[in-house]
Amino acid sequence: YGSAKINNRHHLEIGGVDTVELVEKYGTPLYVYDVALIRERARGFRDTFKRLGIKAQVAYASKAFSTIAMVQLVKEEGLSLDVVSGGELYTAIAAQFPTEKIHFHGNNKSIEELKMALDYQIGCIVVDNFLELHLLMDLCEQKDTKTQILLRVTPGIEAHTHDYILTGQEDSKFGFDLQNGQAEKALRMALESDRLEVLGVHCHIGSQIFDTTGFVLATKKIFEKLNEWKSGFGYISTVLNLGGGFGIRYTQEDEPIPASSYVEEIISEVKNQVVKYNMELPEIWIEPGRSLVGDAGTTLYKIGSTKEVPDVRKYVAVDGGMTDNIRPALYQAKYEAVLANRPLDEVEEKVSIAGKCCESGDMLIWDLPLPKADNNDVLAVFCTGAYGYSMSNNYNRIPRPPVVFVENGITQLVVKRESFDDLIRLDVALKEQVKL
Ligand code: LLP
Repeated sequence: YGSAKINNRHHLEIGGVDTVELVEKYGTPLYVYDVALIRERARGFRDTFKRLGIKAQVAYASKAFSTIAMVQLVKEEGLSLDVVSGGELYTAIAAQFPTEKIHFHGNNKSIEELKMALDYQIGCIVVDNFLELHLLMDLCEQKDTKTQILLRVTPGIEAHTHDYILTGQEDSKFGFDLQNGQAEKALRMALESDRLEVLGVHCHIGSQIFDTTGFVLATKKIFEKLNEWKSGFGYISTVLNLGGGFGIRYTQEDEPIPASSYVEEIISEVKNQVVKYNMELPEIWIEPGRSLVGDAGTTLYKIGSTKEVPDVRKYVAVDGGMTDNIRPALYQAKYEAVLANRPLDEVEEKVSIAGKCCESGDMLIWDLPLPKADNNDVLAVFCTGAYGYSMSNNYNRIPRPPVVFVENGITQLVVKRESFDDLIRLDVALKEQVKL
């Protein structure tokens, strides 16, 4: 997985660093990111567009994993950045990310968030709905400024993925419907305003998608509309943003195509459409999150208690769980794992990895083949780099784990472990006994 190796001490090694030493130094649970792999994925996307000679922006969807260090890395690799909240925007600003390369998403951006985006003069606001369109025009007027926008459209495509992470179908909370005139109405309104420059359209059809069918269909539907708008009222879209959603391999069952193949097939369809409708090739933007960071992240846990349910299963508990990785509980997501301190030992049994939260649903992996594990062992769960830390929480008042970056044998702590004091930092105690 990723670039994990087994070193000469027979320990799991990531980015040239022994994971057992990481655990000794930083404790568990611990998120470890292989920086070289993130760079490789970023360059993979960029180079594919370059090779195809396509003007493009690859924006990292920071919802997958956003911290100052991660944003700095994205900056170093020359990508753009997709943010979806004031908090993600604030992180980007704190990391001194070039604001003209920030794209702002969200189906219910607040006035404060829109003001923040305008004040920092970010590159593009992806407008999702009519309220936002009105707010944005008013705010630009008030601030006597302008902004570039994309219109988010819902192309009516069902990508084959989990219901909660499916977003391009018509019955979705996101974007303007392409089919029933909503998108056209929004476009006409935006074009009438001299405060908004409509660069083009955006769509995102879902996440953890394994083939290109959905992207190709969405591209066709969008071009059909672009052609109508071009001949109807002369609108030319200079940017087409096709979102993210490229799948990764969590377990042997997953069979995603390589990231470059998604791009190649999308571009090939875009070129077909451009020829079909006699248009100029638009700039192509994409927004990968998971495929940039997913397999670069590994979570290390200490094994603790075990429980045998005779003839049924054996539970092996770790010192984290749904607080640091909610994906198994939320989406029945599957992961693979090994004992980091003895990955070569023979598999002896299948066990189910439980978290430590007071909740039966707090299970990380069912039926994992492992050697007989005891409580000195370290469990490494692979592919936790996307939507792990970013969806972590303090259920049961469990502090969030720290995050380390490893590269070429060097380790950097990029998020500190939360302390109990951090947990109560925002609590306000009652001053005196309150009579209710
Ligand atoms: N662009 C937009 C507009 C999105 O809504 C998303 C993800 C992305 C890009 C990035 O998608 P990616 O390349 O990471 O698949 N929490 C879920 C995933 C939710 C994705 C939401 N939107 C999970 O843990 O699987």
